[in-house]
This record gives sequence, C-alpha cells and structure tokens, in this order.
Amino acid sequence: MSATVITGIGELVTNDPAREGLVGLVTDAAVVIEGSRVAWVGPAAEAPTADTHVDAGGRAVIPGFVDSHSHLVFAGDRAAEFAARMTGEPYTAGGIRTTVAATRAATDEQLTSHVARLVVEMRRQGTTTVEIKSGYGLSVVDEARSLAVARLFTDATTFLGAHVVPADTDPDAYVALVTGPMLDAAAPHARWIDVFCEEGAFSVDQARAVLAAGAAHGLRGRLHANQLTYGGGVLLAAELGLVAVDHCTFLSDADVEALSDSGTIATLLPGVEFSTRQPYPDARRLLDAGVRVALASDCNPGSCFTSSVPLCIALAVREMRMSPAEALHAATAVGAAALDRDDVGVLAPGKQADLVLLDAPSYLHLAYRPGVPLVTGVWQAGRPVL
Ligand code: NIG
Ligand code: FE
Repeated sequence: MSATVITGIGELVTNDPAREGLVGLVTDAAVVIEGSRVAWVGPAAEAPTADTHVDAGGRAVIPGFVDSHSHLVFAGDRAAEFAARMTGEPYTAGGIRTTVAATRAATDEQLTSHVARLVVEMRRQGTTTVEIKSGYGLSVVDEARSLAVARLFTDATTFLGAHVVPADTDPDAYVALVTGPMLDAAAPHARWIDVFCEEGAFSVDQARAVLAAGAAHGLRGRLHANQLTYGGGVLLAAELGLVAVDHCTFLSDADVEALSDSGTIATLLPGVEFSTRQPYPDARRLLDAGVRVALASDCNPGSCFTSSVPLCIALAVREMRMSPAEALHAATAVGAAALDRDDVGVLAPGKQADLVLLDAPSYLHLAYRPGVPLVTGVWQAGRPVL
C-alpha cells in the first residue's frame, strides 16, 4: 500500500482525546496516510518516510468537516421567499411545499446532478462527510427516488417523509402513508428516520408514531425540534434516547436538563437563524449544562441555502458564544458522533484519512477570517480531492 507523509504542518487539529485540550493540537506536526487511513500522527521531526511527500509549508491541517444535517435532494430555489423574509415576512414550514412541486417535476438525472454540484461545493469548503435527507418528495415514489439519489453520495441517508403534510392531504392519512407504504419503499435506501416536529408540521404524538415505525424497519431516529417554537420535540428525543436532535432554538430549562441527562447531541444550525432572522440557539447554555453540541449546515433551499461549515463555525463563535475550539470540535468530532461514526472527525492512527489543509497558520482563522475561502487542500479517505 502506498503511503503519503504530510510534513510542515504548523498546527494540526487531531480531536484525539488522548492528546491535550479539546481539539488535541500538535504543533510542527506530520501525518502519514496509508491507503484510506491515517497511519501515523506526531511531531514532524519524528515522522517516518513515505513514498510521497507533501509539505504543508507551516499551514494548519484539521479533520474534514462532518456535516450531519443537510437536505440536498431538491429542485428549484426559493430566493424570492428569502428576499421577502429580509423585508419582514416570517419563515414558516409551508414554504417546503413549493420545493416539493419542483422536486416532483425533476428527473432522477436532474436531481442527481444537482446533488453532485452541492457535494462538490461542500467539499471545496472542507466537508468530507455529509448526511443527506429526503423530504421534498412526499409521495412513495418521490421519497424512494430521493433517497436512492442521496445514497449515491453518502451512507448517511435519512428518510424525512414526515417533513410537512402535502397540500390537499388529510394529516392522519398522510402519517399512515409515511409509516406504511412510503417507509417500506424508503427503508432500503435509508439508515435514519427524521420528523419535522413543529407547529405547522407534525405533533409530538405523530413524531413518536413515525419514529416507532422507522425503528421497526431498522431505521434509527433523529428529529427536527424546537426550531420555530417551544414544543415537546426535544423532550421526546431525550426520552427516546435519540443520538441527536436538531435545531434546538427554543429551549426550556426542562429541555436542557433532559438533553444533559440523556446524552442526546443538540445539533445547532446557525445558518438557519442567519437566513431567517430568528434568534440564535443558546449554545453556551447547552455547553455549560454538559450537553454535547454539534454544528451542521442544514443546507436546504428554504430556511438556509448555505453549504458552508466555515460560515457556521464563524456564526457559532461570533453569535453563539462558542469558543473557536468548541465550534471546530462541534463541526468535526461531535458531528461524527451525531451520525454514530467514530472513524471520522478525528485524526489518529486507524481513522479515515479525511484531512483539510487551510491557507492559514491556525484553525482560529476559520472564525477570525469569516467569509474567506481558506480551504486549500482536501484528502478524502486518503485521496487528494482538492
Ligand atoms: O431544517 N425545518 C425543516 N426543514 C428544513 C427547512 C425546509 C425548507 O424550508 O425547505 C430545515 O430548516
Ligand atoms: Fe433540516
């Protein structure tokens, strides 16, 4: 197996718990990649030799971002809805139906090339692992083909038939469809099941029924909860011991306590608050209560059309009082945990060789230089892809 050694790494973020500090920094470091895996990490002075040598020139290397929440399978855009919001219209779940109509009208080829374009856009910004949800098909055929398209790009696929009740459809009949024939068609292409548990979408009881049906098909649960209002979604996630509950913008003290007790990860999506002019979730309150916090993009055509994890990190630091180390850790190691992965998000021997080279001496620049394209090299499973 051929090996590559990257030397001259001014600052290496490992996220290795065996090293010091939250992000396990090593200065003047080297990494050896063998095949798809990391083979060695340590001080450059002690690095073994390898077939190929790359000099990082004093720049920083971090683990590739793990974007644990995205909705990439869709057609059309909602730029006009965004513009209306910026002049005072509120964001509501109802806008999803506009994208459903466009998605149903698109061919498989159109959906696939659109996802491919977005995945490349993400990779250029340092994302090496992405979760992709369905949720803009909302019919048996359209949800199944959305997931089949998503599955071409990632193992982390999520069935979100319970995104919103389609127009002119009875809610109870729709939940019966989602938990019956739609789930049967979706399950072979999905690893996870998700529900938008929110006013204007699905109630706690409906979410419970959908997650139970998914579990009976071997799909693990996750939730969109407490995005627009206080509600019971976060408590349901904690009660069921879900790996992650996403958004968490409106939280009561009981919600925070329940998350801290259950160990459920709160995935915060600050691009949504940026793009909807909502208040940002209180990351500090969650972290101080011992809740694990992940950061993800939520890339979708409605509430947040950014694919940029660096933007989310900058927002989390500036607007949500996360430290730069907490924000980077949340977008890598904790994002991986939110997908139940321990082979990505960490740079240590045996882990997947997903690395990002920044055109900066330190990872601090991700938040310090917002909006600047700092990603200058990406290795995915050991292969240079940028
Ligand atoms: O995560 N909240 C529900 N779903 C998406 C938005 C979907 C849309 O507006 O198209 C979200 O924000
Ligand atoms: Fe979402």
